[in-house]
Amino acid sequence: MKAARFSRFGGPEVLEVVDLPDPHPGPGEVRIAVRAAGVNASDWKKRQGLMDQELPQTLGYEAAGIVDELGEGVAQVAIGDRMFGFSTDGASQAELAVLSSYAPVPPSLDFAAAAALPVAVETAARALDQLGVAAGSTVLINGASGSVGSAAVQLAAARGARVIGTASAANHGHLRSLGAEPVTYGAGLVEQVRALASLGVDRALDVAGSGVLPELVERFAPPVVQTYPLSDVAEAHRAGEGGHACGKLVLLVDRSRSTSRLAVARSDGRPVGRDRRGRVGPLE
Ligand SMILES: NC(=O)c1ccc[n+]([C@@H]2O[C@H](COP(=O)([O-])OP(=O)(O)OC[C@H]3O[C@@H](n4cnc5c(N)ncnc54)[C@H](OP(=O)(O)O)[C@@H]3O)[C@@H](O)[C@H]2O)c1
Repeated sequence: MKAARFSRFGGPEVLEVVDLPDPHPGPGEVRIAVRAAGVNASDWKKRQGLMDQELPQTLGYEAAGIVDELGEGVAQVAIGDRMFGFSTDGASQAELAVLSSYAPVPPSLDFAAAAALPVAVETAARALDQLGVAAGSTVLINGASGSVGSAAVQLAAARGARVIGTASAANHGHLRSLGAEPVTYGAGLVEQVRALASLGVDRALDVAGSGVLPELVERFAPPVVQTYPLSDVAEAHRAGEGGHACGKLVLLVDRSRSTSRLAVARSDGRPVGRDRRGRVGPLE
């Protein structure tokens, strides 16, 4: 079969299409006659030598096509089925590919659209899971118009989150159509996000890797309007449940001061504490 490969690291000129032995599926895997294979940023990172150091290397983690060979134990798939999924060995940019995780291509998708899904959608879903994005979250996605970013916007919106996404101005309409409120990355980003979400965002995903996360996290942490000692947790709940806290309520826990002298920090930032009689006063 023909397959994309490189035998030395470098620019796109090191890529070649070569003849390689046909691969065969292992237990639980299927082989497809590839109709479409996704191209990802990891391809050029591999080609530049930023990932695996072995040579030569094949390319491609995702593909869609027609099943032409079944591995041992595969029961729900038949030869001729339209399937898409992840390449077992990172070699989907080829005429034949073995898939380890796969699903039928939905009738609404052509092969190209199906081949574009696995890497971006899995990455986006994993990132949102790790961040705990859920209904009620306000999430900022930097690089929202790209492959992973577009998937993350749609998945976050589907979870019920409010999504603010960065993109160049030309892609703002695209972001709106996906369910995000667009802002432009670069100078002034922080001010744009502040104008949309004065209380800040509570999740941030930097898909572009442009290094804005520290600034966004530092400047957009929701304002702490009141802190309570752990023993006053009920008081904190009452204030929060009222629905007008206007910022974050925080419990401060300080085991070293024991329950008789719990540390408290007031909203103005000046530390106070309780003495053994429970009286509130400044901490020395
Ligand atoms: N770990 C994993 O499993 C995994 C999987 C997939 C991808 N990734 C990584 O995720 C990253 C994104 O991949 P991708 O496929 O989504 O890339 P992509 O499709 O090329 O998208 C990147 C986006 O970044 C935006 N961008 C460019 N410069 C920017 C800047 N200075 N600030 C903010 N945004 C900027 C661009 O927006 P505009 O076009 O609007 O300018 C572009 O749409 C890559 O580093 C990739 O290697 C990791």
